[in-house]
Amino acid sequence: MALILCFILGSMFTGISSDVDSPGCGTNSVGFDYSTLPKGNNKRIVGGQIATPHSFPWMVALKYRGVFVCGGSLLKGSSNKWYILTGAHCLHGLVSSDLEVVLGAHDMSKNEPSSETIAIKQTMNHPSFNPITLEYDTGLMELAYPPQIQRPEINFGCVAASKPVSGATCYVIGWGTTSVESAPSDMLQVVEKPVMSQQTCESIYGTDYHNSSMLCAGYPQGGKDSCRLDSGGPLMCYQNSRMEIIGTVSWGFGCAEPNSPAVYASTLSTRQWVEKTINA
Ligand code: ARG
Repeated sequence: MALILCFILGSMFTGISSDVDSPGCGTNSVGFDYSTLPKGNNKRIVGGQIATPHSFPWMVALKYRGVFVCGGSLLKGSSNKWYILTGAHCLHGLVSSDLEVVLGAHDMSKNEPSSETIAIKQTMNHPSFNPITLEYDTGLMELAYPPQIQRPEINFGCVAASKPVSGATCYVIGWGTTSVESAPSDMLQVVEKPVMSQQTCESIYGTDYHNSSMLCAGYPQGGKDSCRLDSGGPLMCYQNSRMEIIGTVSWGFGCAEPNSPAVYASTLSTRQWVEKTINA
């Protein structure tokens, strides 16, 4: 059901050292220690908690004609070009002049002085993105001009080069709904999500699961999940002393149901394309 909902949404709205992991990425300036995040087993997003404001300063809200539709992450490209990593399904069929992103936000109900809204110059989807199967659901947007990166509330993210070690706790963030039928959350939410083995994901989703470009994450018993409007936002793991993005929210059946882990577009599988595109 969530899959269908997202889909309708998706189609309706339808430098110098430049790198996907340049120095300083994946860290925050508000003194938040990522190792204090819940480690699992344990309330939006589903089953999460309000994030410490600006502790994930690469997180952005994507708006289509002024309406919040997806999450995304700021990346630093070469030659002072800046990009947003998101889901290809968030961008499919949309024209860049209808899109804008809000950086440095925490509480969407307020007009926050920390936030900055920037127009989109162009969007690019992964060449192998398949809008039917959602394989390679990775998209990029180029910002119309550089963000105010000197603000403590804004920093760029890192795209992981390697898989998290097995059993690592990873996290997903978003302003999406706190259950299938509820409204989106004003405050950014964070929830822990263990990444499952490819074998487990395949056994649950069968031929809908394409392990070359997908990851699945969650608890067998459910209860903690991303949900509607979290699409495009980052799935991250704390490794190498920083938060590294390993995927973006892609699809799921319902939200936080037992035995229905959410499926994420693996940025491990699209990292080369991301790197090439943002450094072009
Ligand atoms: N495609 C959805 C969106 O529009 C995200 C669905 C995530 N679903 C889930 N059960 N985790 O935001």
